[in-house]
Amino acid sequence: MKEQLAKIRAEALSAFENVRDAAALDELRVRYLGKKGELTAVLKQMGRLSAEERPAMGQLANEVRAALENALDTASKKMEEAALSAKLKAETVDVTIPGRQVQVGRRHPMNTALDEMKEIFTGMGFTVLDGPEIELSELNFDRLNAGEGHPSRDWSDTFYFDTDERVMLRSQTSPMQVRAMDTLPLPIRMIAPGRVYRKDEVDATHSPMFHQVEGMVIDKGVTMADLKGTLATVAQRLYGPDTKTRFRPHHFPFTEPSCEMDVQCHKCGGAGCPTCKGEGWIELLGAGMIHPRVLEMAGIDPNEWSGWAFGFGLDRLAMLRYKIDDVRLIFENDVRFLEQF
Ligand code: DAH
Repeated sequence: MKEQLAKIRAEALSAFENVRDAAALDELRVRYLGKKGELTAVLKQMGRLSAEERPAMGQLANEVRAALENALDTASKKMEEAALSAKLKAETVDVTIPGRQVQVGRRHPMNTALDEMKEIFTGMGFTVLDGPEIELSELNFDRLNAGEGHPSRDWSDTFYFDTDERVMLRSQTSPMQVRAMDTLPLPIRMIAPGRVYRKDEVDATHSPMFHQVEGMVIDKGVTMADLKGTLATVAQRLYGPDTKTRFRPHHFPFTEPSCEMDVQCHKCGGAGCPTCKGEGWIELLGAGMIHPRVLEMAGIDPNEWSGWAFGFGLDRLAMLRYKIDDVRLIFENDVRFLEQF
């Protein structure tokens, strides 16, 4: 029995010393120290020993168990340390590798132009409104004095959702005038930017979806002089204090009188150049005094209140401002284009 214990001890110690991985170590633990292990098997034979032999043999057996447990402990600590240092080595950070470049986003030139407009108008006491792109033709046309048969209602220009021509993608931001009159208390000063839709083929200057900014003022004693003064000031804020504006008569169904406002070309100062197509002037917006019928349809008494309104294309404004020669660039969102602003 003594020899057996000595043999187990020698074998086990050398095995623990040379063990390579955690699975093998566990196998050794079971084999030597487990309930059905070699040491237990020897201890089971203790019963056969005489009463004199038993204490010494018991002591020896305990010593062997302690030595084995100690060796197991050392081996498993060694293994943990090895695993940790392998992990540290594998996860070493190479601080000399150049960093990854961070992509910084920029504002789209059209949003920059819009922010500028909002800033100018809110500074003059206007409220900014947002409205639906899916609109009732009643608001897009009828309530704006463009009744049945008006050419702008034509199928070839307008995206209708139904054959009754009741629901449509708004073709202008002007229905926001009606929504404002229907919901806001008087007096009103508002702008309403947003997307509008028309059945246009895509080319350098046309897109079936584009952006407009609508504006409207209703108050007591408002005249054409307020319209001209305010819009001329806006043009000067946009293009500099010396910017000249001119107003030409025009026709819109919802204003009377109606006009278009041009700004003198900021590029050539009016002499004529490619930017203004040789005209010396650039058309900026449509405007006019709100038609009395439009006020009446909203339940506003035109004898008591008057107002003016305007609408312009935001994409065109941004294109002029940032010298963009193709409207498709505004909508394609090619980062190579956007990075230039
Ligand atoms: N809605 C017009 C268009 O799309 C632009 C416009 C003209 C708006 C005159 C107005 C206005 O408010 O008074 O061409």
